[in-house]
Amino acid sequence: MSAPPVGAVGREHPRLEGRDKVTGAARYAVEYPVENVTYGWAVPAAATRGRILRVDAAPALALPGVLDVLHHGNAPRLTPGVDADLFLLQEPAVHYRGQFVAVVVAESIETAREAARLVRIDYDTEPHSTVLSEHHPGLYRPHKVNPSYPTDTEDGDFDGGFAAAEVRIDATYRTPAYHNNPMEPHATTARWRDGRLLVHDSNQGSTPVQVTLAELFALPRESVRVVAEHVGGGFGSKGYAKAAVVLAALAARQVDRPVRLALTRQQLFGPIGYRTPTIQRVRLGADADGRIAAVCHDAISQTSTLTEFTEQTAVYTRSMYAGPHRRTTHRVVRLDVPTPFWMRAPGECPGAYALESAMDELATACGIDPVELRIRNDPTVDPEQGLPFTSRNLVACLRDGARRFGWADRDPTPGVRRDGRWLVGTGVAGASYPARARAAAAAATAAPDGTFEVRINATDIGTGARTALWQVAADALDVPVDRVAIRVGDSDLPAAGVAGGSMGTASWSWAVIRACEGLRDRLRQAPGGAVPADGLTVEVSTADEVRAQRPLPRYAYGAHFCEVRVDADTGEVRVPRLLGVFAAGRVVNPTTARGQLIGGMTMGMSMALHEEGLLDERYGDWVNHDLAMYHVSVCADVERIEAYWLPEEDPELNPAGVKGIGEIGIVGTAAAITNAVHHATGVRVRDLPVRLDKLL
Ligand code: MOS
Repeated sequence: MSAPPVGAVGREHPRLEGRDKVTGAARYAVEYPVENVTYGWAVPAAATRGRILRVDAAPALALPGVLDVLHHGNAPRLTPGVDADLFLLQEPAVHYRGQFVAVVVAESIETAREAARLVRIDYDTEPHSTVLSEHHPGLYRPHKVNPSYPTDTEDGDFDGGFAAAEVRIDATYRTPAYHNNPMEPHATTARWRDGRLLVHDSNQGSTPVQVTLAELFALPRESVRVVAEHVGGGFGSKGYAKAAVVLAALAARQVDRPVRLALTRQQLFGPIGYRTPTIQRVRLGADADGRIAAVCHDAISQTSTLTEFTEQTAVYTRSMYAGPHRRTTHRVVRLDVPTPFWMRAPGECPGAYALESAMDELATACGIDPVELRIRNDPTVDPEQGLPFTSRNLVACLRDGARRFGWADRDPTPGVRRDGRWLVGTGVAGASYPARARAAAAAATAAPDGTFEVRINATDIGTGARTALWQVAADALDVPVDRVAIRVGDSDLPAAGVAGGSMGTASWSWAVIRACEGLRDRLRQAPGGAVPADGLTVEVSTADEVRAQRPLPRYAYGAHFCEVRVDADTGEVRVPRLLGVFAAGRVVNPTTARGQLIGGMTMGMSMALHEEGLLDERYGDWVNHDLAMYHVSVCADVERIEAYWLPEEDPELNPAGVKGIGEIGIVGTAAAITNAVHHATGVRVRDLPVRLDKLL
């Protein structure tokens, strides 16, 4: 008999693949050894809107070692109508600057890069429009916003309620374009064999990528295999098949050899998607005690001429705070820009920046502490649906955070605390993020030697998902973790959804638990409890069970507290302390959970202080398209950062009882920082980031 099992969920455990990663043994998409491999290099369009007149590949082809130059005139054909952004090298039309219009394939990466420079393309250009403005004549009302929310909502009488309110806030907030910038770029090794396509690809979900590739290349799904065993981050940008995998597959088919293709850092700025800039008008009407009567959030964002992608910016406001008179709207405009895409907490993140800033402005206007203001406006039921929340611990997060941070007795007066050259202030913001789950399949196998293998096509993008699922599996099998092996990241495994929307662990653990439970049942029924020599396998899908979930509002909550110091002479902003308290259901692994939460908070700080895609209107392209000029917070920017979570049991979630923690950390963080900047300086920054020139 083996040692008695020990519960694994809730215990710290280092990542299973951590050692492989730090020793270099873990393989990423373009690191797999492949015989006879070639190298692809993507060529971006140098026009913003128009069409290709002529491609002169001769100078590139003349370079020794160049195998081919693919473009719309000679590339293999793709199925139209699958995804306009992926219909690459098929048509002469140019929809935005930087759109991939050719691929060079060569024997070495150096040759491919040099040859890409030599490809000559003539364009017929047209005038372009690339700048988002609330006055843009092309603004329209989309039919829905992502993923499938109503565009506008209206409850009560906002105009009447707002006009009658004793205290009114009417403020417009602006956020710039943000670029995902995972450490590993979008990268693929593609090869064709006997009509089958095998790709090692950096993505957040190889089942969806497999499905899309099969459609694009008109193949049965079984003829496409997508492996993504280790992924160096994505932040949403790899949530779907993107240009790199399509270009690599096209090129490999054309030259009939394996092709490795990785985008450059510069090429990540645009073609892979980015967080849309937003313009958000928030109006809050309240009584003198800060009780909200009327709330309106009007959000404007951009999309491309290729695809309608409308960020759900105002959706956060629909369920966050109470108030009888409510309105939210979304408008979008098609610009000659790359299609925006998901970036960590799309919608909630920019939306919370605006609403949580407006809440701070309301607190100041009412003379009420901003923590107390939020507690006073905590709704008892979802203000949008009128249904009870499965669990809502925003107030508990605010109270616990205030206690840990030392918020009590805060003097609300802005711009009065000085420590030498530094103006000192503190700020707070609330946070919420939907707790969703999607259907998945999983398989569990018992071996005669008492060990188990659990298989699911989950993707670990660096979050620790593999380790969390392994812990969940051990508990579901009721055996010690060292008897369990877990396999993820391969479309040959049972199909599962994307590592996104903070629903990876919730969705995958559901299937893993059901597979393990099913296997235990089968083992109990086995004659004498013996496992056959070739093992015993149970495979399940959670489709029916997930579909049967009650339609209740499910959210994770959080509260961010921070201290900022602003140099009175230079305007330099420092964040000596950032503290978040979260209520996100059960935490499977405190080590990796903390990494997710402080990672999200750091990214929120980066949004508040550093990140800003600066578009040059003449060319319709971002000028600061590398990590030297597009600033992200680095270790030196992060001083004391703390993440805590409250124990929370919510039986309405999923068998593991988890809510998802990938995105809640970034929601609200930027507002906590700008609110603290206001407290320190008296300056209310309503267009991110907080730059020195906005404070002086
Ligand atoms: Mo996240 S932006 O849902 O991958």
